[in-house]
Amino acid sequence: MATLININGQIMPPDQAFISVFDHGLLFGDSVYEVFTTYKGKLFAENEHLTRLKASAKAISLKIPFTDEYLLEEMQKTFDAAENSESYARMVITRGKGEIHISPLSCNSPTMILYVKEAEKYPEEYYSKGIAIALVSTKRNLKDSLNPGIKTGNYLNSVLAIIEAEKLGAYDGLMLNSDGFVSECTTSNFYLVKNGGVKTANPGCGILVGITRKMLIEVARENGIAVQECKISPEEIPAVDELFITSTTKGVMPVTMCDGKKIGDGKPGPVSIKLRSLYQKKLDKIVNNK
Ligand SMILES: Cc1ncc(COP(=O)(O)O)c(C=O)c1O
Repeated sequence: MATLININGQIMPPDQAFISVFDHGLLFGDSVYEVFTTYKGKLFAENEHLTRLKASAKAISLKIPFTDEYLLEEMQKTFDAAENSESYARMVITRGKGEIHISPLSCNSPTMILYVKEAEKYPEEYYSKGIAIALVSTKRNLKDSLNPGIKTGNYLNSVLAIIEAEKLGAYDGLMLNSDGFVSECTTSNFYLVKNGGVKTANPGCGILVGITRKMLIEVARENGIAVQECKISPEEIPAVDELFITSTTKGVMPVTMCDGKKIGDGKPGPVSIKLRSLYQKKLDKIVNNK
């Protein structure tokens, strides 16, 4: 198992990987990023991640001077050098080096940083028993200030929420938006199940529109499970049958406690279990066709 860093095409061990202290990614969180993982050793949804990376960059007026082919080649080269059985890759594009001034005008050359390591394996009991989340008081960023739909390197909103959640003894924090509706967890999209149907916040509620979310909604609908993208009131949560979250690294993860109270019978429910299995089958199909 190896961790390797690729900075602008140079692969190196972590203790040799440095960027300028004048990089605006560090000074102002002025960067965008994506997280990729392999499944059974193969990348999946890489084009969707690159499309979102470019959309995020466009939304912050950051011109990425690298082609998709170059970025994918660098990722593959780094995977090959690291030789992990299942790879995690975090691709960051920062505004680059500039003056200590908020304006990006002095930054002429974005920095590409790729972190490659063995993919995190979550404890099996997170899936067999479910995790605990807590509703936190930190609100999700306003859509018209720092739109949660843009995956930037400024994740302080989620950092504040996870600090709160961990103090409450929960694994993750669920944030409401400024209108009081449910948005998402710190690094995952959030879903509830009631009477066999699934509900998740719509993009208008201020969420990162997850790539796993999109795939999950597709497999659910293809298999006759209704999914509503809508406004969700936190008052609905105590009466739901099931909760779960999704992300690229976690897949579909059941949530069996919220705010210290059991959800349903306190065990992962049938819809979450079925959706996890359908999602994995979809990944199998994607990677078997590669
Ligand atoms: C805030 C937030 N929401 C949702 C997600 C899930 O997105 P994806 O399924 O594309 O990994 C992430 C992933 O990092 C995230 O940071």
